[in-house]
Amino acid sequence: MALAKVTPAELRAMKSRGERIASLTAYDYPLTKLLDEAGIPLLLVGDSLGMVVLGYPDTTHVTMDEMVHHVRAAARAKPRALLAADLPYHSYQSPDQALANAKRLVAAGAEAVKAEGGRAIIEQVRAIVNAGIPFLGHLGMLPQSVLEEGGYKIKGKRDAEREALLADARALEEAGAFGIVLELVTPPVAKEVSQAISIPTIGIGSGPDCDGQILVTPDLIGAFPWFTPKFVKPHIHTGEQIRATVTQWAKALSHPVS
Ligand code: KIV
Repeated sequence: MALAKVTPAELRAMKSRGERIASLTAYDYPLTKLLDEAGIPLLLVGDSLGMVVLGYPDTTHVTMDEMVHHVRAAARAKPRALLAADLPYHSYQSPDQALANAKRLVAAGAEAVKAEGGRAIIEQVRAIVNAGIPFLGHLGMLPQSVLEEGGYKIKGKRDAEREALLADARALEEAGAFGIVLELVTPPVAKEVSQAISIPTIGIGSGPDCDGQILVTPDLIGAFPWFTPKFVKPHIHTGEQIRATVTQWAKALSHPVS
């Protein structure tokens, strides 16, 4: 019997059953299909594609058109997983703009959208949720703020940051988010946030006590070998395997033509 399609309600139920949620990023048809066949319940067309697919220095260069292009490709895999997509930089500056762009991602095949921030974007979150579009929050280190912040900084070290994270997480839950990504949050604070809300937290570089974990897939499989975040240990080294295979193949061709 085919397994049922994953929904936001199922992800919330996984938290209440104490089941960890595995999540990965996917940017195109084959990767989405492979990760789905492996049974990953939550796939994200993340704007990390800006770096690991498009070669930008950070996510602030990613456009709505680029997100739509990749969401369409991922959605063609028709995953059983819930397929979420990032609203890119400056695409959700007002509730109207956020809703219009969330609708574009849904029209391209996304089943949920994610945006970075808590109370600062709560009206945008309400507009999206009120339109019936499932919303995934993102707190902690916000990659789209890298230029203002001057780098990728761990959050939760100071008491004011801890309090802000708790208040933002509660606000997102109250506004109807079905889950929250916690990126680079100190592990004790990530645990406290996870215990303070009933929707699942999906950690990345935030310790083991979140309700789930997400990774940028190329980091996990060594497919972007020029940079790997400190908190990830690649499980395979695809980049090295590609170089070795291609070199071997080319060498085998290189005997003189007779
Ligand atoms: O863009 C992305 O891949 C993300 C993950 C790091 C959570 O937001």
